[in-house]
Amino acid sequence: MDKKPAVFITRKIPFPAIELLEKSCDVEINLEDRVLEKKELLEKVKGKDAVLCLLTDVIDDEVFQAAGPQCKIFANYAVGYNNIDVAAATKRKIIVTNTPGVLTDATADLAWALLFSVARRIVEADKFTREGKFKGWAPELFLGMEITGKTIGIIGAGRIGANFAKKATAFSMKILYHDVKRNFELEKDVGAQFVNLEILLKESDFISIHVPLLPETRHLIGEKEFSMMKKTAILINTSRGAVVDEKALVDALKNKRIWGAGLDVYENEPEIEPELPSLNNVVLLPHIASATIETRTKMALMAAENIIAFFKGDVPPNIVNPEVLSER
Ligand code: GLV
Ligand code: GLV
Repeated sequence: MDKKPAVFITRKIPFPAIELLEKSCDVEINLEDRVLEKKELLEKVKGKDAVLCLLTDVIDDEVFQAAGPQCKIFANYAVGYNNIDVAAATKRKIIVTNTPGVLTDATADLAWALLFSVARRIVEADKFTREGKFKGWAPELFLGMEITGKTIGIIGAGRIGANFAKKATAFSMKILYHDVKRNFELEKDVGAQFVNLEILLKESDFISIHVPLLPETRHLIGEKEFSMMKKTAILINTSRGAVVDEKALVDALKNKRIWGAGLDVYENEPEIEPELPSLNNVVLLPHIASATIETRTKMALMAAENIIAFFKGDVPPNIVNPEVLSER
């Protein structure tokens, strides 16, 4: 019998995926509940036939080199894959896969949760109540922003942005969006209006970001963009931290240039701009948009299935660099 392919999983993921992989592969897992140091990662991938990696792993050419020429697939346990040097992978004819679709609802839902938290000051108000400060109903206690009927601006109308937009219809919102390409289906489905970024920034009451991190989207929102927003605007980011210039965001929040922000992601994760936690008008989450029991299991299975498909000789369903196939 042929030797089973050797798979390395860079950190413990939901068990059903491990169980599935173990049926046809020799699986090794980093069981320590932490990100591996580069040195450790280089050591662990050596000689493996596939790697299931996380968005917290920096996968560059050094990692591909260390794995060796037999290793032809890296399955990322995330929809975003800015942690992987895809160009370097393609050059080595290594397939890279991601987990699109399964985390769309969870991520859009969390963006909404953040928007509600900021607009209605839920975190501040919860803290106040817990601290025993609630002395009775008061006319101006924790006044926030009405959500229903407002204008929402969506930057990036891919799967997640479009899903977020559909949910806005429940709140009778006017929907503006900006993207590098038009989403005609979204326009037809929910009456979303395609506008340039400047109009979106100027006219939206709330702005939610749903673009991938690319050289063109790095610091897409900076000082200039904050200066165009309404003073009552709320910015939500569940995409990648570096899409927003975090220092400029701190300034905008501190100087009340905008009303508030809700963040799930940070420019230099896990580091956070030191002033952010001291500001009341921002809600901070630890990158948990896809963190539901259902979604994380689906993501894990999807990453595993990409690896299994590859070893069966099939094209992995969620390949992000299909050009490697034509070059084979
Ligand atoms: C999470 O951030 C992901 O890209 O899946
Ligand atoms: C990710 O799933 C996206 O395209 O928004």
